[in-house]
Amino acid sequence: MLHSEKESIYQIVNEQLSSLLEGETNVLANLSNASALLKMNFPRTVFAGFYLYDGNELILGPFQGGVSCVRIALGKGVCGESAASCQTVIVGDVKTYPNYISCDSSARSEIVLPMVKNGQLLGVLDLDSSYVDDYDEIDQKYLEEFVTILLDKTEWKFSMFEEKE
Ligand code: SME
Repeated sequence: MLHSEKESIYQIVNEQLSSLLEGETNVLANLSNASALLKMNFPRTVFAGFYLYDGNELILGPFQGGVSCVRIALGKGVCGESAASCQTVIVGDVKTYPNYISCDSSARSEIVLPMVKNGQLLGVLDLDSSYVDDYDEIDQKYLEEFVTILLDKTEWKFSMFEEKE
């Protein structure tokens, strides 16, 4: 895909995300729609979704794609590495990356972005592509913007789903 083509898709995706989340703060609804928006617009994506930090480890959250690993320790895998460092990590070829956790054999490259709000780690956004070297600084720039929009509009509150006595 040409850089300019990728940029125009991301510009539309990020505008769509803002409209989609307008007036909606529910965390499960917003994370679910956000993952669907990415999967729909980038057909090479085999996984687009979230791992959420529970204060100890990352746990699989809303996503689009095949069934996936559920729990990832901080520092382990690309997701755990991004969460531990609070930095975006891009892996061009997952087959040659030592700290990689394989959940889907069709994944060939990966980008993971940390989700941090008010200095607190909330989780990571993870995208896997069926193509080698599919992610670069353009993905990083627009996906970081995507995460900022998402976190600005979303209330990180799960208590509404707690069991009632
Ligand atoms: N490959 C990831 C694990 C999650 S899946 O890609 C959805 C990792 O190395 O952390």
